[in-house]
Amino acid sequence: MASKRDGKAASFVRLASDIWAFQTTAVLAAALELDVFSAIGSGKRTSVEIASATNSQVRGMERLLDTLTSLKYLKKTHNRYGLEPIAATFLVRESPMYMEGASQVIRGMTMLWSTLADAVKAGASLAGPVSEDQARAFFPILVKQIFPMNYTASQSAIRKMPKARLSRIQRILDIGGGAAAWSIPFAENLRKARATLIDYPEMTAIAREYAARFKVGDRFDFLEGNFFEIDWGSEQFDLAILGHIVHGEGVERAKQLMRRACIALKPGGILLIADFIPNENRTGPALALMFGLNMFVATPEGGVYTMGEYRAWLKEAGFKRVTTVAANAPSPLILAHK
Ligand SMILES: C[S@@+](CC[C@H](N)C(=O)[O-])C[C@H]1O[C@@H](n2cnc3c(N)ncnc32)[C@H](O)[C@@H]1O
Repeated sequence: MASKRDGKAASFVRLASDIWAFQTTAVLAAALELDVFSAIGSGKRTSVEIASATNSQVRGMERLLDTLTSLKYLKKTHNRYGLEPIAATFLVRESPMYMEGASQVIRGMTMLWSTLADAVKAGASLAGPVSEDQARAFFPILVKQIFPMNYTASQSAIRKMPKARLSRIQRILDIGGGAAAWSIPFAENLRKARATLIDYPEMTAIAREYAARFKVGDRFDFLEGNFFEIDWGSEQFDLAILGHIVHGEGVERAKQLMRRACIALKPGGILLIADFIPNENRTGPALALMFGLNMFVATPEGGVYTMGEYRAWLKEAGFKRVTTVAANAPSPLILAHK
């Protein structure tokens, strides 16, 4: 039997890679801050060219580029670097799917996560209540960063929804819509559909820009302000969307959003919820659990909820049936049918 001292009892390699996992984040953050991927995208290929284009010294740049190659964001042939598809799609400034603002988001998250042990001791985030001003300063950066992930997930959900069901969608309500990542693909696919996006004015300005970029701007309306204070109307919408909204709220406010979405939907309408969903035991998947900790460390009440909790709350809110659809997203998407 393996003893605790012979090294077989546990894998040191696994422990080491977990302990050093922050280094992967730091490598990506540095490359994004220096705009290394855009430099390569614009034709710089050698470490000398890339260092010069990013105002850096060759010595550190070579190490950074080789590490990015080992992480499969770059490829290297005869001392010339190229972009792997994941980098070309999401990390190059000129790409329509560019994850803008990622290095800023990483910097903020790193600071918050350094308070984790103290927050656990205290039983609450040390950041204190998130004021409306703080939210309105933070979300313009975040919504651009998460746009590619959510736009792609929305597209994949649309591909999986029955055509007959999709064709009945004429009015869409995107609650806390951010850059409109979820509603733009519906507007692109359903040429007669109109979307109403609710968010603070800092975000509706971004949504306007993105909707215009994707050539669906003429079919978007905006309600600006706090979605808890705005009237969403009753029985007006065929599809309501809560895209990464529920995790920002505590249980009571999350339930309130589901109730109000149900009221806003026409009979037969659908509420789409996208979020990180842990299993019923809350033992996995790790990404969902990590995100739950993220909300713990960053907000007073936010968290992640299980399918069991969602099903109970959606039923309580008035929905008749709850289904899920596997999408290109961290967790399956929830469809609640009125
Ligand atoms: C995590 S982002 C999600 C954005 C978008 N739904 C997506 O999935 O890409 C949360 C969004 O909800 C908005 N939001 C949060 N609380 C809000 C409130 N009380 N009133 C209006 N908007 C709010 C934020 O401004 C932000 O755009």
